Amino acid sequence: MANAKEILEQNRQSWNTVAHHFNGKDALPSYGPYTQTEEELKLFEDLQGKRVLEIGYGSGHSLKYMASRGAKELWGVDLSDSQKNAAEELLKDQNPQLFCAAMETDINLPKHYFDYVYSIYAIGWTTDLSVTFKLIYSYLKDGGSLIFSWDHPLYANLKSENGRVHLEGSYQLEGEKLMENFKGEKVDMVIHRRKMATYINELINAGFSIDTVIESDVSAAFEKEEAEVSDRYYSLYKARKFPTTMIIKASKRS
Ligand SMILES: C[S@@+](CC[C@H](N)C(=O)[O-])C[C@H]1O[C@@H](n2cnc3c(N)ncnc32)[C@H](O)[C@@H]1O
Repeated sequence: MANAKEILEQNRQSWNTVAHHFNGKDALPSYGPYTQTEEELKLFEDLQGKRVLEIGYGSGHSLKYMASRGAKELWGVDLSDSQKNAAEELLKDQNPQLFCAAMETDINLPKHYFDYVYSIYAIGWTTDLSVTFKLIYSYLKDGGSLIFSWDHPLYANLKSENGRVHLEGSYQLEGEKLMENFKGEKVDMVIHRRKMATYINELINAGFSIDTVIESDVSAAFEKEEAEVSDRYYSLYKARKFPTTMIIKASKRS
């Protein structure tokens, strides 16, 4: 089994390969596939003049959304240098502070500085959730909030066969999972399976107060769409039965 450093290097190379599939996908105001949006949930308050840090900024589209809502300082950390290049291009007029690094590494980002740290479909890639949440907590000002979305932890266990959704594998089993194919590309990526309770307990251990946990409903944008029977990993059919995404808002309160 590879160590964390080796996993991060493998994942970095693989993200460089698949980065182009995520150009503007899973970016605010979207919280994820078929998921309620920021416009529906309104988790961010006034962003005017605020300092924000994105974990796993990808193509930079969420940071651009933050700029459109008046955020003053745009910061981000992402493992992949391809993503950094894409985000730099997209945000060239916004003067962002973009770093190519692992979220679980202390790269001396300012402490007690940010009004919001947020992440859209990236947190679950960390090799060390405990360290990641502790670092994020240290970056936030008192009263600042972390908002993140990620696959609902049970979602990977839901399989659909001819429209019959059933459980496969064990939700109880946490730990590393090797992915050799992602978005149709041959890769070598390690992702960590974690339960809902693990996310919540690690937030509490890092010092956060939990404001809200959302097991997202389908966005109103799909209200009129017919949910055809589908066995795809993400489908409206499945999303109407089970939340694709969990969204958590947690704050630093002294
Ligand atoms: C699904 S994408 C997120 C998409 C992003 N929200 C967007 O708007 O493009 C996941 C991102 O997490 C990054 N990532 C993966 N592991 C990471 C880690 N350990 N630390 C920091 N970023 C990581 C990837 O490079 C990728 O850009």
